[in-house]
Amino acid sequence: MSAGLRLALAKGRLYDATVARLAAAGITVDADPGRRLLIPTSNPLLQVLVVKPGDVPVYVENGAADLGVTGTDVLRESDADVLEPLGLGFGACRLVVAAPAETPYPGLAHGRTARVATKYPRLARNYFSSMGRSVEVIMVGGSVEVAPLLGLSDWIVDLVDTGATLKANGLTERAVILESAAVLVANRASQKLKLEQHLRLMQSLGD
Ligand code: PRP
Repeated sequence: MSAGLRLALAKGRLYDATVARLAAAGITVDADPGRRLLIPTSNPLLQVLVVKPGDVPVYVENGAADLGVTGTDVLRESDADVLEPLGLGFGACRLVVAAPAETPYPGLAHGRTARVATKYPRLARNYFSSMGRSVEVIMVGGSVEVAPLLGLSDWIVDLVDTGATLKANGLTERAVILESAAVLVANRASQKLKLEQHLRLMQSLGD
């Protein structure tokens, strides 16, 4: 493990908001990482690692990164064993069940088993089983909202921010599964070994 801290971020909204928080605390990070995956910051003891959103908990759990910023949606889907020392207050959205306006919910005609398309198979399965409903979960990598239009699924489980994507695809929200927001996650061993540094970074990222 290196002397400084490595912070895993995914490109996109959470990256921009995290970099803005660091800038407000006097730590500058290149706003456009380009194709680089390891990015130095103005603090010689802090390096940023750019990974795919779903991989942030994996890198942190395994100690390849000391800390990371991810959404609670991604974190709960991953089930990674990491600490969650700080809620960051940005990136609020919700994980919902949605369906075309004419599709019944929560039961289909003649008791047919519903097919549910999602990027969140674990959270979707847990939700429906907690409701005592058996569904067929169909894993897709993105553009989930198109699945019911093409007959791939009856319902979807996906993130909603403004609601524009649901509306544009004729879907209506039926149930909220999880309220999500950005959280700072930390590797357990790293936090023990480098507590002072973790606390300083948490202070820099707090609003
Ligand atoms: C996310 C999410 C929805 C959309 C919701 O997709 O999966 O599709 O944003 O935002 P809205 O409510 O403001 O319309 P993303 O842009 O990450 O792309 P993806 O569908 O390829 O995952």
